[in-house]
Amino acid sequence: MTFSEAECRRCREDFPALSRTVAGKPVAFLDGPAGTQVPRQVVEAIVGYYETANANTRGEFAASRATDELIASVREKAAAFLGAPSWREVSFGHNMTTLTFSLSQALAREMRPGDEIVVTQLDHEANRGPWLNLAERGLVIREVALLPDGRLDADDFAKQVNGRTRLVAVGLASNLLGTVNDAGLAVRLARSVGAWVLFDAVHHAAHFPLDVVALDADFLLCSAYKFYGPHVGLLYCRPGLLDSLRTDKLRAQDDAAPFRIETGTLNHAALAGVGAAIDYIASWGSGETLRRRIVSAMDGIAAYEHQLGAYYYDNVRAIPGVTVWGPDFAERRAPTISISVDGVHPDLVARRLGELGLQVWSGDFYAVRAVEVLGLADKGGVVRTGVVMYNTREEIDRLLEGLNRTLRALATIPPG
Ligand SMILES: Cc1ncc(COP(=O)(O)O)c(C=O)c1O
Repeated sequence: MTFSEAECRRCREDFPALSRTVAGKPVAFLDGPAGTQVPRQVVEAIVGYYETANANTRGEFAASRATDELIASVREKAAAFLGAPSWREVSFGHNMTTLTFSLSQALAREMRPGDEIVVTQLDHEANRGPWLNLAERGLVIREVALLPDGRLDADDFAKQVNGRTRLVAVGLASNLLGTVNDAGLAVRLARSVGAWVLFDAVHHAAHFPLDVVALDADFLLCSAYKFYGPHVGLLYCRPGLLDSLRTDKLRAQDDAAPFRIETGTLNHAALAGVGAAIDYIASWGSGETLRRRIVSAMDGIAAYEHQLGAYYYDNVRAIPGVTVWGPDFAERRAPTISISVDGVHPDLVARRLGELGLQVWSGDFYAVRAVEVLGLADKGGVVRTGVVMYNTREEIDRLLEGLNRTLRALATIPPG
């Protein structure tokens, strides 16, 4: 379905936060890669849970049954969002990082000293740290090189995978540079040596439809707060795979997937919000099934975000003193654009823009290794702008104007 400026204007009415102001100026939320705002439907679902169904699970009374039904229905919706065969493949957790740590402990029990795990220099630390920590158990962690143009080095990728590789852990899209990685290459390399493949889809999930079956993923993780929902992590495991893993779990806990890795009580109210966020996305698509509506909506939103991201990319590059990192918009990439400004610390640029009501991030956003490899660590990282469904051309124009004004004020370029 088409998602154009008219749909964007309509969707903005659903997000209460978008009417906020800073010093009398409307806030432009260009900080989506760190978490999006939520529509009223999500807020209402969370409030509604507390008002009508707040209880723990598996009890013999109405509120508990309502909670069980809610969680079951959110799992079905999450399966539709991921393209998973069924709800049994979808586990919930605190966030992506915590789920990845839990999974790393379970996978380590299937490995022996000398076995290898491949990670990348481009990934967020959440998909590096849990694996790098396993070196203390004698596992060897290898790293795929990042090229200066923001892409992973495909030749180096092939070199890092060998007969001892047990897991390839790679992001689908970079939260720093917007690069969309070659998932097919990761799968081919992993399969050629019988290794598992795990995708960090946290950044990707916000911008493109996911299809875990087409991806041929063994594991995939994402986080609902990046796609208009609350702070909840999602883990997909290939059918049957989680059942075979020795997860950290209590004796009293359900042994079967997807519960096997879900420790303690989940955030039920937030899960109500996750279901509402998926329904919200789907409401912008068309089709007979929830899955079709999600894919159709995400395709439309992706096209809208791409043209807006390209508009910013083309114009920001033209500002003297600005360097843009990552791939250009001729290819498929996420609408997340990071820049450096000659001689000016990214925090200072972001602070000045913040005073104008323009919310952008500065720093490394936990893509610490990529920032190091690009030589940006001692410069404070980059200034990152993200585009999501509710961002407008007018906001991007304000950002470009704000950047020009900021740079003039900081006297890095001559006035005029
Ligand atoms: C690409 C990527 N992976 C992983 C994470 C970590 O997600 P969470 O905050 O759910 O642990 C983030 C968060 O910014 C991210 O952008």
